[in-house]
Amino acid sequence: MRINKYLADCGVGSRRECDKLIADGLVKINDKIATLGSDVKENDHVTVRGKRVGDKQSLVYVMLHKPKGYVTTAKDDLGRKTVLDLVGDIKQRIYPVGRLDYDTEGLLILTNDGDMANRLTHPRNEVNKTYIARISGQLTEAERRTLEKGVLLDGVKTAPAKVKILEKDEHHTRVEVTIHEGRNRQVKRMFETVGKEVEFLKRVSIGELRLGGLKRGTYRYLHDDEIEYLKNL
Ligand code: URA
Repeated sequence: MRINKYLADCGVGSRRECDKLIADGLVKINDKIATLGSDVKENDHVTVRGKRVGDKQSLVYVMLHKPKGYVTTAKDDLGRKTVLDLVGDIKQRIYPVGRLDYDTEGLLILTNDGDMANRLTHPRNEVNKTYIARISGQLTEAERRTLEKGVLLDGVKTAPAKVKILEKDEHHTRVEVTIHEGRNRQVKRMFETVGKEVEFLKRVSIGELRLGGLKRGTYRYLHDDEIEYLKNL
């Protein structure tokens, strides 16, 4: 088995992260530094930063209700709290699948299943993500349609989206937005193109997987049928 897949299966990280560890010379097979082309055979002794891996960890799948005020990376240069602080009692080394902004809340999946993480984030798979957003001002029907058809972000048009107005008053509009791309700050930047600010953003579903009534700041293990569903996306 190729070394990057082996490490991902062992829960070390996504394949891309494992490639980096290999390229950085931190991975050894039987005391020899591994390269990106190395294969692992049964009974090989594999280490990352000198620590044995390969007693395959059990795979763990978690849904977290991320609160605002947490970064979605393992470490933050500014010393801010990370989503891993909220799952600190899980002993396996899990990591977030995809990103939510510091001030965005809602559904985040964490796992040590590198292949699933790749499938969920690969653009080819077009997994729908649904958000509830509160927008400054009143979103007009014309603006709603413009956003659905696609707007230019960095010169590249966004894929067709679903934008549903849930309610509005004089100063705000509450909308449900479904997109399958995962571009940087995509929802906020889409609304900026029509002169509207996203004041609040929460992800409520990834594909068929729903946040439901999970309390903010807490997590739960995914059920077998949910894991099966995500594996077959
Ligand atoms: N779109 C955004 O603008 N921010 C997020 O966190 C997720 C989607």
